Order: sequence, then C-alpha cells, then structure tokens
Amino acid sequence: RIAYVNGRYVKHSDAMVHIEDRGYQFADGVYEVCEVRHGVIVDLTRHLDRLNRSLSELRIAWPMTRQALVLVIRETLRRNHVRNGLFYLQVTRGVARRDHVFPPDGTPSSIVVTAKSTDQSVIARKNADGIKAVTVRDNRWDRVDIKSVGLLPNAMARQQAKEAGAQEAIYIDHNGMVKEGAATNVWIVDHDGNLVTRPAEHGILRGITRTTLMDVAAKLDVTIIERFFSVEEMMKAREVFITAATSICFPVVSIDGETIANGHPGSMSQKIREAFFDVAE
Ligand code: PDD
Repeated sequence: RIAYVNGRYVKHSDAMVHIEDRGYQFADGVYEVCEVRHGVIVDLTRHLDRLNRSLSELRIAWPMTRQALVLVIRETLRRNHVRNGLFYLQVTRGVARRDHVFPPDGTPSSIVVTAKSTDQSVIARKNADGIKAVTVRDNRWDRVDIKSVGLLPNAMARQQAKEAGAQEAIYIDHNGMVKEGAATNVWIVDHDGNLVTRPAEHGILRGITRTTLMDVAAKLDVTIIERFFSVEEMMKAREVFITAATSICFPVVSIDGETIANGHPGSMSQKIREAFFDVAE
C-alpha cells in the first residue's frame, strides 16, 4: 500500500509524521472519509465542501489548492488499485514546538491521504443480517459539527458497543433524544412510513450520506422529517438504520438487546440503498 504524506508518496509501512505534529499532540486536525464505488468517488464535492468548512471553523489553512488535493486523492487511489473502497484524508495544523496557542501564520498544515479496498462481502452480510447497537450518553464536546480527529469519546463508545456484542453506539442527549452514532447518522421509519432524522443543527455531524439520502428519498417520493425523536420512539419504530460514507445504509435490528420491529432488515433501508448510487455523484 502507498500513502501520500506531505508532498510524497511513500510505502504505507514507512509513512510517518513528526512527533510534534499538532494532530498527534492536540488532535488539532480534521478528516474526511469518502467512498469509492466502481472507480468513482462518491459525493466528492460535498466531502470537500465539508472539509473546507471544518478547516475554516478551526482556522486551519488548506494544505494545497482544492484542485491539487483532488489530483492527490485520485493518484493515491490509482496507486492502491482501489475500485471499491474508500480514501481517508487528514489535515492538521502542522508541526510546531508544543504550545497550546496556534503556531505562527505560515506554518504549513500537514496532509495525509490513504486509500484501501473494502471487502464487499462484509458489507453485504451486514445489509442482509442487520447490525446491533447500544445507546450511550453523549460525552463529546459541543462542536461535533466539525469533523475533527478528536475521536476518543467515539472510540470509547464503539469499544463499549463491541464489548456488548454490538457494532454501533448511538448517542442520546440529556432529554433522552437520539443524536447520532459514534461514526454514523441515525434514521427511523415512523408508523406513517416517513423517514425521520435529527436536525443537523443540533449537536450532530451533518453527514454527507445523510444529505444525499435526502435527494434519494425525494426521488423515491418518500417524505423526510427532520425532527427530534426519543429512544422510546426509536425502539418502537418500523425500521432503524444508520448511514455513513463507509457503510451507506446499514439496518439496525437490535438496540440494547431489544429487537427492533420483527428483527429483520426493513424494506425502506433496502430501497434507499438500491437507489443510492443512482443519485450520488
Ligand atoms: N464517520 N456522524 C459521525 C459522528 C461520523 O463520524 C460520521 C462519519 C457520520 C456520517 O457522515 P458521512 O455520511 O459524511 O460519512 C455521522 C466516518 C465515516 C468515520 O469516522 O470513519
């Protein structure tokens, strides 16, 4: 495997960043994960727009022009022979002697791009069987709208899920309302057949898959309602599923050990998944 690190393509096993990189010391950086399907990057424009937003919210400089970054992404995919898989990119505030305040203007940001193929059979199995989730209290900072690499709470939540025999942890707010997964957005199908998801302005990441799914639903004549919904409503929903660039749309068939609906993936998530790649660009 080959990785791109600050201007050079290097063997993945030799790819390194400096010990005083602010990403390493302060989690002072942002990232994107983007799906590649049949050699096409899915939703690249939206991912780069969100990268731009994350960078500007944190006042981190672009590491290169947007056009140059697109070339680097494509070259990294090519060198890794990725047709179906994903790329990961990370930009940090760069290397500087450890000091909490920002380094002087002009300190170059660091950029890393990696790419890998994904095992389509694993994804197919999750779609066929559905996944299990647990609920957890949200203990993250209040800027989760920024796709920051500070993911320790998310890592701990996923670990907690794993130890409970589940694959995702679903964050719940102080009022018992559902937020999002540790690395996914959460959706339910209500008893009128509408798709319901939490408004993106309220303490969640605005997922790119979430945004594209709204286009998909419009095409399928499915109504989407952005509103708060409680854990109780989720447990009684007709369907629950999660979305992310890495998984598109996985049905959730059990939460906290309780079966959702009849315990099998629902028809809505399947319909959405099948239509997704016709709409995403
Ligand atoms: N996670 N919410 C959180 C907290 C996320 O970390 C992610 C993505 C999403 C879904 O966003 P999108 O549809 O743009 O992938 C929602 C990535 C995949 C990750 O951390 O690996």
